[in-house]
Amino acid sequence: MESLDRAYNVTRTFVESVPKKERKRYGQFFTSRKTAEFMASLFTIDYSKNELSLLDAGAGTGLLTIALVERLRKDGYKGKIKVVCYENDASVLPALIENMENIKNCFDVIYDIRIENYILSQQFSEMDLFGNQVEKYDMIIGNPPYKKLVKEAPEAKIMSEICYGSPNLYFLFWAMGIRNLKDNEELVYIVPRSWTSGAYFERFRKFLFNNCVITNIHIFESRDKVFDGDSILQETIIVKIRKTRNKPESVEISSSETSDFYDVRSCSVDYNTVVSQNKYVFIVTNEKDVEILSRVNSQTSTLETDNLRMRTGIIVDFRTRDVLRDTREDGSYPIFYSHHIKDGRVFWPVGREAEYIVTDKSGYLQENTDYLFVKRFTSKEEKRRLQCGIYLKSDHSQYKYISTQNKINYIKCENPELAYGLFVILNSSLYDAYYRILNGSTQVNSTEINCMPVPPKDSIHQMGLELIGMELTEQNCDKIIDRWIR
Ligand SMILES: C[S@@+](CC[C@H](N)C(=O)[O-])C[C@H]1O[C@@H](n2cnc3c(N)ncnc32)[C@H](O)[C@@H]1O
Repeated sequence: MESLDRAYNVTRTFVESVPKKERKRYGQFFTSRKTAEFMASLFTIDYSKNELSLLDAGAGTGLLTIALVERLRKDGYKGKIKVVCYENDASVLPALIENMENIKNCFDVIYDIRIENYILSQQFSEMDLFGNQVEKYDMIIGNPPYKKLVKEAPEAKIMSEICYGSPNLYFLFWAMGIRNLKDNEELVYIVPRSWTSGAYFERFRKFLFNNCVITNIHIFESRDKVFDGDSILQETIIVKIRKTRNKPESVEISSSETSDFYDVRSCSVDYNTVVSQNKYVFIVTNEKDVEILSRVNSQTSTLETDNLRMRTGIIVDFRTRDVLRDTREDGSYPIFYSHHIKDGRVFWPVGREAEYIVTDKSGYLQENTDYLFVKRFTSKEEKRRLQCGIYLKSDHSQYKYISTQNKINYIKCENPELAYGLFVILNSSLYDAYYRILNGSTQVNSTEINCMPVPPKDSIHQMGLELIGMELTEQNCDKIIDRWIR
């Protein structure tokens, strides 16, 4: 029987013996066979080396190591193979040892299982306290644990230079992996997609791109079955990086419907299109995506430079219940929620609860002026990620102030034309598609929107003039956008 077959039998017996809740505590999801083989196939192998050192941090039952060793030997690598596996869950150790013993016998490898915390057993700096360099490996393969940590967690503390807020263990494993990688060598990890954008991962991305380049990305079009038997909510991708500052010309981006990999499609995309100037990572999968990026990237302003910053609504309603009212009363002001945004407009009141606010706290109120409101959350099934509504102060001119719940974002405008112009941009199919390439989640993040290339303010104003009097549809926005952004 092949080693991987045997390792899967061992893994299945382990999985069946441990409740899912228990495995979740360690961030334990085991890679499916096809995924492990695909990940192993991505490495470029230097057959001239007499010895190769492999690292699998968070090894579980060792499936990734086995897939890589199997590939090395099947492809004719004759040198010595030394494997190091870190795993801190004692209950999985018997399965890991059984699998490692098996590949030792089948493929002549030397292995070392370290029953330690991969992060805490090392320093994050190049040198340890005694001036010794951290251990370095030729090949690193991994499926790091997905686990949210508190800010004060010891792992977060020793890696504070890449953390912002409460980090997730997966990118700490990744950054430590980069430290443990020899220069010019490769690391292949399967990780959630979340690190590709957003301020939260900015320090990590900076560290990544100061040390490495991306050479391959694989995405799964459906989330099911990436991990053996377990469905997960996070969108998952496979990434290969090389530890060098020499940028390749392109990144190979492949995709498949599921982790069966029977329908892999692949394209080479210009490196600077994937890794943008501001270090966001754009996962482009076809020519159409490339065209979308190049059209948007031809614009020279941003909402930030146009002085049209998007901000998040100011009221967290469950913390401010005491100032919210269901009906109008003296001194009350309107408060807007995402359910008031519909068909490009803002409809208020609609007879739902807490549509009024009574307060003299300035932090709870904002000027009643012209705005574009944008929903912060949409569901995966909805057609558009960016859903906006134009709010004009003339709609409710009796109020000096208004308020907004934090589940909407808003852009304050100097006049109605700008609100209409911004609607043209954010309600177009071009910008909706651009945003989806940038951010795989369903949340609209104002920091990312503020960095998107957009036309200069004068042009936005003109675009707004063109839309006034027309129906507020995506088609009409697209017609205008197509004239302004070619
Ligand atoms: C997502 S699982 C992946 C297992 C295996 N590599 C695979 O792909 O099937 C992550 C593994 O990391 C282990 N782990 C979690 N935290 C760890 C830590 N701090 N140090 C070492 N291993 C850890 C978990 O017990 C779990 O087995």
